[in-house]
Amino acid sequence: MTDAALLAHYLARAAPEAAAWNLSPECAYIDYRLRTWGRELVGERRGLNVLNVGIGVGEWDDVLGYLLAGRGRLTSIDIDPGSCILLKARQYREGHTNPASVVCADVLTWKPENGFDLVTMVGSTIAETGDCAAALSAGLSLLAKDGWLALVAVGEQRIPATAATILRDETDTTLELPIRLQVLVNA
Ligand SMILES: C[S@@+](CC[C@H](N)C(=O)[O-])C[C@H]1O[C@@H](n2cnc3c(N)ncnc32)[C@H](O)[C@@H]1O
Repeated sequence: MTDAALLAHYLARAAPEAAAWNLSPECAYIDYRLRTWGRELVGERRGLNVLNVGIGVGEWDDVLGYLLAGRGRLTSIDIDPGSCILLKARQYREGHTNPASVVCADVLTWKPENGFDLVTMVGSTIAETGDCAAALSAGLSLLAKDGWLALVAVGEQRIPATAATILRDETDTTLELPIRLQVLVNA
C-alpha cells in the first residue's frame, strides 16, 4: 500500500460526514466503555493469544495490540482484503509496537492450528457475517480450553441461543443506545 493510499484513508476518516460522528461525545463514550472492558478482559495475564474478528478501520485492533504489548499477541481476521492490507500497512507505518498478525479469511470456515485465549467480536461484525448463529459458533470453536469469547454490541443486537455458558453479561445504558458486553465460554 502506498503512502498516498494511507493519506486518503486518514483524510476519509476526517471528512465531515465521518468526523461529525467520530468526534461526538457519544462516540468517545462508546470507545471509553469498549477500551475499559478490553483492559479488564486482558487483565494482568501474560502469554495471551488473542483473536479479533472483523477489522473494519482497525482501531480496536490498535487498542488490543497496545493492551497486549509485552504480554501477548494479537491475530486479526477479516474477510475483506482491503481492511487487511490497510491494517498491516498502517500499523507498520505508524510503528505500532505490538502489531496484529493479519489473516484474510472467512471466520466461518477458518481453521487455525491453535485455539485462542480470548476472541473478540465487536459492533456489527457478527451481523455482517450474514449468519449470526454460525458466527457465534465459529467464535466459540476458535477458543482454547478455558478461553473467552467477548461480544460487544451497540444498540439492540440479538445473540442467537447457544449452549455456551455466559460468564459475564453487562449493559451500559448511559447513552440512548445500550452498550452490551457478553463473555461466553464453551459449556
Ligand atoms: C464493522 S467492521 C468491525 C469494526 C471493528 N471491530 C469495530 O467495531 O471497531 C466489521 C468487519 O467484519 C468483517 N467481516 C464480515 N464478515 C466476515 C467474515 N465472515 N469473516 C471475517 N470478517 C468478516 C467485515 O469485512 C468488516 O470489516
